[in-house]
Amino acid sequence: MKIHIKTYGCQMNERDSEALAGMLTEAGHVMVDSEEAADVLLFNTCSVREQAERKAKGKIGYMRKLKARKPELVIGALGCMAQRLGNELLNELPHLDFVLGTGQLHTLVPLIESIRADRRQVASITESADVLTGMGSHYRPEGDGMNFKAQIAITRGCNRFCSYCIVPYVRGREISREPADVVAEARELVAGGAKEIMLLGQNVAAYGWGGNVNPPPAGVSPFAELLEELDRIPGLLRIRFTSPYPTYFNDRLIAAIAQSRTVCHNIHLPLQSGSDRILAAMNRQYTADGYRAVAAALRTAMPDVTFSTDVIVGFPGESDEDFRLTRELMNEIGFDNSFIFKYSPRPGAKSAAQEDSVPQEVKEERNALLLADLKTRVEAALRRQVGSVQEVLVEGTSPRNPERWSGRTGTNRVIHFLPEPDLEAGTLRRVKITRAGSVSLFGELVQE
Ligand code: 5AD
Ligand code: SF4
Repeated sequence: MKIHIKTYGCQMNERDSEALAGMLTEAGHVMVDSEEAADVLLFNTCSVREQAERKAKGKIGYMRKLKARKPELVIGALGCMAQRLGNELLNELPHLDFVLGTGQLHTLVPLIESIRADRRQVASITESADVLTGMGSHYRPEGDGMNFKAQIAITRGCNRFCSYCIVPYVRGREISREPADVVAEARELVAGGAKEIMLLGQNVAAYGWGGNVNPPPAGVSPFAELLEELDRIPGLLRIRFTSPYPTYFNDRLIAAIAQSRTVCHNIHLPLQSGSDRILAAMNRQYTADGYRAVAAALRTAMPDVTFSTDVIVGFPGESDEDFRLTRELMNEIGFDNSFIFKYSPRPGAKSAAQEDSVPQEVKEERNALLLADLKTRVEAALRRQVGSVQEVLVEGTSPRNPERWSGRTGTNRVIHFLPEPDLEAGTLRRVKITRAGSVSLFGELVQE
């Protein structure tokens, strides 16, 4: 059958969709790019903010017309929103054939068969650890040009229960895969041409602790051990990971990253707020000074490290002073990238019981201020790179100007340059920076 998947939300969802595409094609189905061409339409949904749910619901609702024209079409909602709403979603959208929750994704192939045979609405949302082992497939179509990059999910679920967050409820308890399975998957990907692997999980740095340890004792880090094993895979050039919870960066992990051959010097370190009062209300297990200490330790071990972060503005009770502390800390750390979110109450998460007290205009205003700061900081950081020589992993032609190619530094900066004959994507090259743009750099390949 011809199958189309549309994915909403985070990289974990992207990876889940890729694994599903892998399983479906192994079972003989064909992935297609267009909704009209598909026999089966899948929506892998997100619940993290209300807006994400609204978007997916709107899109699935709109598919009613397509189904009226093509009654044999099968439509399924998968992932976080499917998990959260279950049967409610089937009632709300009667043309939907099934909802498949986050713990049951591995059962997609037989589920599609049974729905084709017996057209009844099905909601399958039981939490199951089998999803951990059942989701190791990859879908790497020839010719998409980005096959040198791959993603591996190493943990699923989250045990941190930040008060604003729906993830622990829709993705269940935190579980880690066996190191041997992760390493075998990485070796296979590298044998198939992968040069850069992104390790994924809601809290990757908690890998291997069984979900119960926070913060981890000094000197021990199963995640560090995993990174060291992956580092030894010949042909693997780069490892990235996202997202780690700040308190898991003990000395053992920081040393492993700094000494590694492959781990990139760009760390996504979710801050959420710079005010201790708000951090406590969010149930984040660190203070602003604790966060500063982690960033400083990483920077001491890797002077060239860059950071990116997630921040929420307008959490219930966030005052001008709380916001000022966030803004100050963000400028102090000097994030190279930040994902700024306006607080959105999620039914079921703890903070939804509190009044969403910060007015929408104040959220907008705080959001705009942080974005403006980011722009100024990034432009200045890029200008400081002019004249230096940086190593990039060559990615292929630049999206905006096909005469140029681009590559990414380990610190996650994009550099555009003129190619030379026979230049290949997925190779490491050095580039001399000649000019800074507002979001990326320009340079010349260094002749080796
Ligand atoms: N409202 C706004 N942002 C949220 N995030 C998680 N839950 C919410 C919410 N209810 C943000 C956090 C997290 C990122 C993935 O999404 O910053 O790190
Ligand atoms: Fe949500 Fe906090 Fe877990 Fe991240 S660490 S997924 S923000 S509960």
